[in-house]
Amino acid sequence: MTIFDRNCRACPRLAGFLDDVNERYPDYYCRPVPPFGAPDARFLIVGLAPGMHGANRSGRPFTGDHAGILLYQMLHKYGFSTCEHSEAVNDGLELIDCRITNAVKCLPPDNKPVGAEINTCNRFLANELQTLPPGSVVVALGGIAHRAIVKAMELRQADYRFAHAALHDLGQFRVLDSYHCSRYNTNTRRLTEAMFDAIFAEVRALLDK
Ligand code: URA
Repeated sequence: MTIFDRNCRACPRLAGFLDDVNERYPDYYCRPVPPFGAPDARFLIVGLAPGMHGANRSGRPFTGDHAGILLYQMLHKYGFSTCEHSEAVNDGLELIDCRITNAVKCLPPDNKPVGAEINTCNRFLANELQTLPPGSVVVALGGIAHRAIVKAMELRQADYRFAHAALHDLGQFRVLDSYHCSRYNTNTRRLTEAMFDAIFAEVRALLDK
């Protein structure tokens, strides 16, 4: 039951794109990006896919680009990490009762994985969701992550619609939806700091109950 394969080349378009990017940026990580955090965590964050100059460069989800700034700040504020900044894989940062993963593990062109790629990668997420202890909470960052979780649990999408701050009981765990903390969403204030803070406050309260 593997949750990650560093050598995966199952999506030809993504594998070829990683090869091209690696030629342009030889010092970038340019591989499937592994989940980061505690293997027995009760809090799992599911993002979309590595960003070109963030996770794809550093090898750690949400590390090195704008999308991670607010995320790691919130994790620290609510006691889920040892530091409020994630700089690089060797920075000593540890997550506490928390893990971050992506619905798609490889960098997609234009930040947009196609449906077949999301589906091919879904087995890793499905296996990872099975590792969650009872009482766990999953935060879905954006609609694609939300739908990948519903698919991985073999549930009907129509029964679980994405909406910011919606809490879904999936039986084995709960899913709390949030708009993705992308630069676009935070710049346009579709997702404000207060909205994102409220998501993490709710996770903390759910896990502390
Ligand atoms: N970096 C990630 O690892 N995932 C995202 O969804 C965005 C940026």
